[in-house]
Amino acid sequence: MKKFGLIGFPLGHSFSRNYFNSKFLQESITDCSYSNFEIPDIHLLTEVLKDPELQGLNVTIPYKKDVIPFLHTVDSVVRHTGACNCIRIQNHQLHGYNTDVTGFEKSFMEKWTPGDHRALILGTGGSSKAVAYVLNELGIDFLFVSRNHSKSPAHLQYAELTEKIIRDHPLIINCTPLGMYPEINALPPLPYEFLTAGHYLFDLIYNPASTQFLQKGEAAGARVKNGADMLKIQADASWEIWNPGSER
Ligand SMILES: NC(=O)c1ccc[n+]([C@@H]2O[C@H](COP(=O)([O-])OP(=O)(O)OC[C@H]3O[C@@H](n4cnc5c(N)ncnc54)[C@H](OP(=O)(O)O)[C@@H]3O)[C@@H](O)[C@H]2O)c1
Repeated sequence: MKKFGLIGFPLGHSFSRNYFNSKFLQESITDCSYSNFEIPDIHLLTEVLKDPELQGLNVTIPYKKDVIPFLHTVDSVVRHTGACNCIRIQNHQLHGYNTDVTGFEKSFMEKWTPGDHRALILGTGGSSKAVAYVLNELGIDFLFVSRNHSKSPAHLQYAELTEKIIRDHPLIINCTPLGMYPEINALPPLPYEFLTAGHYLFDLIYNPASTQFLQKGEAAGARVKNGADMLKIQADASWEIWNPGSER
């Protein structure tokens, strides 16, 4: 049996286990399983790794950064973002990757037009680093928007967002949990009245499919996209890392 799984805490919300087990059923993959490992401390990873059949892990909140010291190698994306969400286990060696980057890039590009070259990234947590990495690769300038004050000119607080800033940044990417189930009425505190049909609002949240943030964008005639495709693409990219060249 080839075993895969997800480490994080808590894991009640986890998408990955259902996604992979449905995939195994639909594609008649009978020699693989995918389990949740809900570990309250990252050091318990060593217990998880005692299973010799384990070949790959996904990593979610709060361990995407904390897992890095356990890895034997990391790819350049992990090195740049400081976050790992996918591990391949081979000959007792752990190799770290970041497939959130792949997921965000492919999904985001669907509605991106080359004229969109300035972005606001809402939030400064783990996923914001993956988003910033992709925007850098695409040559898109960006500012972070945070609840917290920073001396960096690349960071703004929500209260500093003016009409001009909103008009000058056609891309707005929500990397905060605001609006995520069950707090579905929450939304980032932006001056939404300045949105135009030229904006593109991307929300990493996938539940609900249409957050209040995206509804504000739709009301202004903007392009909008939620995090559902990003999630599926990152899962498929993990599968490809665990089974390189696999037809599965
Ligand atoms: N679709 C996907 O594949 C995918 C992948 C990864 C993550 N996500 C989603 O993206 C969201 C963020 O994930 P993450 O891993 O980046 O989380 P995270 O590391 O906890 O960071 C979230 C950031 O949001 C800001 N924030 C948190 N609570 C806030 C509040 N009450 N009001 C305003 N800002 C707040 C904080 O930035 P400041 O302190 O700077 O304000 C925080 O650093 C989650 O909803 C997650 O489910 C989706």
